[in-house]
Amino acid sequence: MKNFKLVSAFSLWAVSASCAFATTVGFSQVGSESGWRTSFSEAVKAEAKQRGIDLKFADAQQKQENQIKAVRSFIAQGVDAIIIAPVVETGWKPVLKEAKRARIPVVIVDRNINVDDDSLYLTRIATDFTEEGRKIGEWLMDKTQGNCDIAELQGTVGATAAIDRATGFNAVIANYPNAKIVRSQTGEFTRAKGKEVMEGFLKAQNGQALCAVWAHNDEMALGAVQAIKEAGLKPGKDILIVSVDGVPDYFKAMADGDANATVEYSPHMGGPAFDAIDAFIKGNKEQSKWVSTTGEVFTQETAAAEYEKRRLR
Ligand code: AHR
Repeated sequence: MKNFKLVSAFSLWAVSASCAFATTVGFSQVGSESGWRTSFSEAVKAEAKQRGIDLKFADAQQKQENQIKAVRSFIAQGVDAIIIAPVVETGWKPVLKEAKRARIPVVIVDRNINVDDDSLYLTRIATDFTEEGRKIGEWLMDKTQGNCDIAELQGTVGATAAIDRATGFNAVIANYPNAKIVRSQTGEFTRAKGKEVMEGFLKAQNGQALCAVWAHNDEMALGAVQAIKEAGLKPGKDILIVSVDGVPDYFKAMADGDANATVEYSPHMGGPAFDAIDAFIKGNKEQSKWVSTTGEVFTQETAAAEYEKRRLR
């Protein structure tokens, strides 16, 4: 009897110890539209592997309906937790309620969600997109003394990274009467679309000068660089190029003089997301609703050295 008690006490301890960490986590990722996104997916996968987590990864190909299907499938599989990097902000409430009913914690990473009940998710790990837009806007206004006709390549419509980056940038240039956005269209965060839209901008300008391209991510900025070169102009000189992300290809473009500045957005959000899940499993059910990380502005001056540091990472 004594032995039985000892054995059962040990198994109870073993069960509770083995439950103190997440073992199976579903991750619904936006897609693979940019170099930044690919680095982010790889970083989460590497972090999960290091922690011995079975990560169920679903690429939504930039479609919210695919994300909702993936989340429902994670719920049906009974995962310990779900991580969502949402494509757009709206339309999340019903599926988050399903996760809550199944008692599965949800961590939001990167872009935000727009829900009136914040008990539907545990926490959000992301940069301050408004601050990013503000920082790059300030850099550009400083560089041009506030005289600038700007072409804007917007990110995906309805995505926080597009909405908030535009808000931050616009708030800065509003203080400069000779700075204005003269062209604006979505390039859906991809290089191909960024190039296509920039070609359209240049055609529509019909030889009238543009001072700068403000792209909501590096990938579209790199597409614009190509379009500007093909039009016989010099990106980085004839037209300044500013954006956000800090991917190796963009550092290379800055080192080559083809782009001017970017705000770094670290893709290493897997660690804090898994930490939040583990804390939840250990009993910390009420967590701060936003864990923010904001990067700094990088320019041509340090680009070559930064590229060397990053290209083999
Ligand atoms: O939501 C973050 C943005 O999404 C990144 O800046 C961009 O590269 C990605 O597609």
